[in-house]
Amino acid sequence: MKHFPILSLLAVTVMACSSPQPEPFSVIPMPDDVTLGEGAFKIAGQDFFVDASIDPEAQTAICDFWNQLCAVSGKKSTVGSEERGQKVRFLPNPNLGAEEYALNIDGNGVVAEASAFPGFFYAIQTLKQMLPAEIYGTKKVSAAWVLPYASILDSPRFDYRGILLDPCRHFWTVEETKRIIDIASIYKINRLHWHLTEDQGWRWEVKKYPGLTEIGAWRNGTCIGKDFTSNDGIRHGGFYTQDELRDVVEYARRRGITVIPEIDLPGHMLAALAAYPELGCTGGPYEVWTRWGISEDVLCVGKEETFTFLEDILTELIDIFPSEYIHIGGDECPKVRWVSCPRCQARIKQLGLKAHGNISAEQELQCYVTARIQKFLNDRGRKIIGWDEILEGNLAPGATVMSWRGVKGGIEAARRGFDVVMTPNKYLYIDYYQSQEVDKEPFGIGGYVPVGKVYGYEPYEGMDPGTESHILGVQANLWTEYIVTPEHLEYMLLPRLCALSEVQWCDASHKDYARFDASLDHAFRIFDVMGFTYAKHVRGVIGLPGSEQPARTPEELEEYLAQRATER
Ligand code: ACM
Ligand code: ZN
Repeated sequence: MKHFPILSLLAVTVMACSSPQPEPFSVIPMPDDVTLGEGAFKIAGQDFFVDASIDPEAQTAICDFWNQLCAVSGKKSTVGSEERGQKVRFLPNPNLGAEEYALNIDGNGVVAEASAFPGFFYAIQTLKQMLPAEIYGTKKVSAAWVLPYASILDSPRFDYRGILLDPCRHFWTVEETKRIIDIASIYKINRLHWHLTEDQGWRWEVKKYPGLTEIGAWRNGTCIGKDFTSNDGIRHGGFYTQDELRDVVEYARRRGITVIPEIDLPGHMLAALAAYPELGCTGGPYEVWTRWGISEDVLCVGKEETFTFLEDILTELIDIFPSEYIHIGGDECPKVRWVSCPRCQARIKQLGLKAHGNISAEQELQCYVTARIQKFLNDRGRKIIGWDEILEGNLAPGATVMSWRGVKGGIEAARRGFDVVMTPNKYLYIDYYQSQEVDKEPFGIGGYVPVGKVYGYEPYEGMDPGTESHILGVQANLWTEYIVTPEHLEYMLLPRLCALSEVQWCDASHKDYARFDASLDHAFRIFDVMGFTYAKHVRGVIGLPGSEQPARTPEELEEYLAQRATER
């Protein structure tokens, strides 16, 4: 039986006024099974017991939590694995799944149980969200450092809970990237899909091909707004050294997040071609692109050197990124160059590739590329993920499909027996506007994905019965063509990240927008304490800090939209 805390909240809030009041229960994503009791346990100043058999990573996370609690509460306590009757106890429970945890809080104290690091990490995230938001700060604060009596058993709906960050269209420093990891980890997200290569910039150091970062990481300006013929004249770029990449991988790992790198191939490769023009069909010259869109210049896959290049860079990549999955892109690869390239045509002939149905021989050539790279990675113990275009034509078993052009690719992939990550643009492209009042928004790519739209996404909708088990999980994508500052990046992410986390974590029957919306007040306090910029549309305010404006009334909005329609 499931117990819903909203119902029990009333009981908690009528507790005796003399004792410190716990926060209203507003954990996001809502845990699976929560029963709140009447009473509160004062955690500040309590000693922590950590069973010695708990793995070292989990012990580190517990110690970090203990440290933070001491700092913000100003109350000293101890942490250790010697039994001394401590009241905050972290215990192993092999009966729980790796991401599962149990919490019990009553007059005797806190017992947190899990079987592995992720479960302990998530238990801590839940405990922290049950405390005053100042737990996310560093300063000593006088607050009610108490937890409500509660019994919680929690585990996620989906194994894959991702967020994509695009450092190519605009570059984000290691520190900015770590802030995204920090906030994602609070909401129990466990994958960072790091889109590291693009037409507009190559963002990771490859020792064997220094030109990729010497030339490919820099572009001579950026188009202004949507005028692709314009150029702001400001050189833009940057890249991560291999040490920095390893640092981010480790930083994320300690927060329960696996970094999945993406090398987008064979399209979206203009930055690489700018450095190594011999890898293109025409030989160039090419420039790192200063505009957005889909370039017709892609890798020449008729040349064997192209595969040598890809295998070389992937060899360095898998040495840096231990993730089981490597994303190989595959989206938006025009075939015009291949059609007129003698080498690509010779490869088609040699392989005996033929057009069939609505699939061209050149599309089958892309399937050949996908299969060859898949085999290379499989032979090294890795699996591929690709955008849903990889479904067009033959796709070898074992590939995972990321459905971005709506949900149809995911539905088809599952029907054909492939695993799927759902990231449909209509619901989960969080570079889209959050309101229809675009005159009040920072400039954006278009679309309309408000918090409620993200929240309302149901990954199994439209699936053939029996194919649901192919859905590994859900991801939102933060592309950055029109996002230039960290403030704007965070504004686009928050609080839609919170809505995403409930789609990823909560059983569909546990989602409740009214309860979620009420919980956002606490999330906003967390963002304030951590210094994050966030969008306040759900509270009737639109715009970045400094240019915030009230939302229009429904009547005013109707008028505004009608006016805009006549202007188009
Ligand atoms: C994509 O948005 N081109 C995957
Ligand atoms: Zn070619």
